[in-house]
Amino acid sequence: MFKVIHFAVDGSEKNPLIDHQDPYFSFALDCGGTPLLITEATLKVNGVNFDVKGQVSCRYQGPDFQADRAYEATLQFVSDKGERLEAVLPFRTGKFHGAWQGDFISDASYHFKEKRVSPKVLMFRKDFATKAKVKEAFLYASALGIYDLELNGQRLGDRYFAPGFTSYQHQLQYQYYDVLPFLKSHNTLLASVAGGWAVGSYLFTRKNRHDGKRPAFLMELHLRYEDGQEEVLGSDSSFGVSEEGPVQMADFYDGETFDSRIDPLKIAYHPATREKLRFTPHLFADYSCPVIANQTLKPLHQYVGPRGETIYDFGQNFAGVVSFELEAQGDETVTISHAEVLRKDGGLDVAPLRSAQARITYHAHPGHQSFSPRLTYMGFRYVAVNGIPSDHIKLSALALSSDLPLIGSFACSNAALNRLHENMLWSARSNFMDIPTDCPQRDERMGWTGDIALFASTAAFVFDTDRFLRKWLKDLRSEQLRSGGLPNTIPNQGYGFPTTMPKMAVDFWGDAALYVPFSLYLAYGDREVLSLSYESMKRYVDACAFWAKIWGVGKYRYIWHTPSSLHFGDWVAPDTPTMAGWQKRSPYTATAALAHSSALLAQAAGLLGKNSDQKHYAALAKKVAEAYDHVFFDGEGKMKKKEFQTGYVLPLAFDLLPKTEKEKAAENLARLVEGRGDTIGTGFPATPYVLFALADHGHADVAFRMLMNEKCPSWLYAVKMGATTIWEKFDGLDEEGYCRKSEDGTDGMISFNHYASGSVCRFLHERIGGLTALEPGYQHFQVKPLLGGAISSCQIEHCSPYGPIVSSWKLEGKHFSLDVTVPYLSQGEIVLPSGKHFSQPQGSAHYEEELA
Ligand code: BGC
Repeated sequence: MFKVIHFAVDGSEKNPLIDHQDPYFSFALDCGGTPLLITEATLKVNGVNFDVKGQVSCRYQGPDFQADRAYEATLQFVSDKGERLEAVLPFRTGKFHGAWQGDFISDASYHFKEKRVSPKVLMFRKDFATKAKVKEAFLYASALGIYDLELNGQRLGDRYFAPGFTSYQHQLQYQYYDVLPFLKSHNTLLASVAGGWAVGSYLFTRKNRHDGKRPAFLMELHLRYEDGQEEVLGSDSSFGVSEEGPVQMADFYDGETFDSRIDPLKIAYHPATREKLRFTPHLFADYSCPVIANQTLKPLHQYVGPRGETIYDFGQNFAGVVSFELEAQGDETVTISHAEVLRKDGGLDVAPLRSAQARITYHAHPGHQSFSPRLTYMGFRYVAVNGIPSDHIKLSALALSSDLPLIGSFACSNAALNRLHENMLWSARSNFMDIPTDCPQRDERMGWTGDIALFASTAAFVFDTDRFLRKWLKDLRSEQLRSGGLPNTIPNQGYGFPTTMPKMAVDFWGDAALYVPFSLYLAYGDREVLSLSYESMKRYVDACAFWAKIWGVGKYRYIWHTPSSLHFGDWVAPDTPTMAGWQKRSPYTATAALAHSSALLAQAAGLLGKNSDQKHYAALAKKVAEAYDHVFFDGEGKMKKKEFQTGYVLPLAFDLLPKTEKEKAAENLARLVEGRGDTIGTGFPATPYVLFALADHGHADVAFRMLMNEKCPSWLYAVKMGATTIWEKFDGLDEEGYCRKSEDGTDGMISFNHYASGSVCRFLHERIGGLTALEPGYQHFQVKPLLGGAISSCQIEHCSPYGPIVSSWKLEGKHFSLDVTVPYLSQGEIVLPSGKHFSQPQGSAHYEEELA
């Protein structure tokens, strides 16, 4: 029997809200291991039937949808065996950019001037009565800041940090809430609006008010009565506003202060005022993967800390919030501090958080009560609780993350590698917080472009990243400078590096403009993402080529040779101790990045039929590659100047060297790695590629030794030290398990939850598991496991757009066996360790052989 395992519109399966007339439907089938022939397949939407036999997606082209309505899409399949299957996807339409019957409202009497903190949380109140029997009741809401809604004491929706993080000056999302289940004849609606990203203190500079003077709220409530009447209530001066609500402080870095003794129904409200925003963002129906609580964690153990506080260990580092129930005798004030690591005395080590206070302060009232913050989050494993005896509080935690479906898995015979993979998943979840961030704990949590550029293709194997990254790419395109350069953090809330040359492009970080769309194209096979980003990619590559040329003559015209402080270079490379050392390598990293992005752009141009662009950028890629080789290499595969791993990895991974030099270059890389005791020497730019550069050029043995190494710096050193997430630097904890001081000039930059180096997991998927897409979207793929590292079995799964691909192999003595499942409409090319090749159509098959 087959089943529908994915049915989405615009990449969303859960309460999708559509705001344009040509949404995109996608679906995937799980046929188990049995070959299946679909004889009829129909998608029915809005009274139109689309024949989707032989397809897994369909762009709607039918009569216009109406705004503010509920719809259904239905898929029907009939197989050659007469089996029938039906799946239904309910969705709604939004306002289709129609005018709002409400204004942004705020409190004009609140003059927020303090620096480095977030504004007070504004509480809005609206009382309203219904006039007759209501058939349908829903509301749309948005804010400048982040909001949380309650109707008659019930929280609306389960998402955090609405309306989400976008480049607010360009686009702002609004959400839909079905309020019928909570509606009474007399109603009270409460909205708490905190500063969030738009008005709150954000960035390590603690800058605030980036997008507005104070928080503001926008809302529209629709009451559809049974008699056919419709009433619309928009936010206006009939709403009350107060700064005296129970949430007394909310800030992403500092935490939240909540006074449970304050009843929001009893405080004084004054009339809200119309707020004129500094800019007019386009209002779009939510197109994000909303942040939700996706897991509850219980502390593994607790103990009394050096200052008498109770310390709880959740056994897992993550991003989220605590949640507790407590029994108070009187007006106790409970404080909860958060940290990722401990000090030697057992107390929390909060130094890596820098200026972030990461503290919950809760003022209790006598009796039983429960609380969990809604307007902040932290990155932590440990909490320290003060102000209440430990037997009066029951504590748990909620892991928060953007709601991205998990579509891939990896499990092998080596427990440490499995933990490394698990750590990568936790770091991805912790940093997919509406936008892709660098880390979830210190005063940063920004959309650093380089981190996601280098991690996107690893993430695409295990998470359905399509909707999440398309949202972010919309901001990237909006924020691109006229020069073609990109801010290093997107959305850009006022921080631009390099400050001296704000219009310049920055290697690898700016290359997110290409790497992220390509990661989606490869995972889903949809050229649209390339065409949407094409102009942005092109402007970025043109900018890089311009800046490279400006500092050089002759062959140096293609060597990107800017003053090194303008690039990040071999960022956090452990084989050179300081930031200046990483940046000094930027001629290598920037030139390699320029060559690679030019080649990708040529490929995109070819796919989109832009032939002259294709020729132009292919020629550029060739010239840059030749320059890299002539300037940095001796013609015999050796670097002319001081060798370092990244200097070899990038040209090997990006194919910049002539055939005659590749083998030697790989030998030199292997020698360098061995010379460091098989430890890592690469920074962010080359870490995703180092194992491929070795294994794909004849040094699989060295690649496996590097991967399995537990000596610092290595991936498994962190695992050996008990890491439960990926660290920013390989040597974050010393051999005793305590935080190493950052002496590299990066001002205490030690995070224990940064996914960037987790990009090594692509090697686990594509080489150890052996699965690579031969065509974007995996309709045609290869399974070719690479043996080594004493790994005796491995199973991977990846739900491609066509359905689940499974590959599971075992090595027992010299006996190798492999089981592969190929999904609907797909074809697998199976390559056994001996090199024997089989083509496998849809269905499951078993292979085995004796190894020599
Ligand atoms: C961030 C990184 C980021 C880098 C760029 C750091 O502070 O945490 O992940 O890419 O800055 O310099």
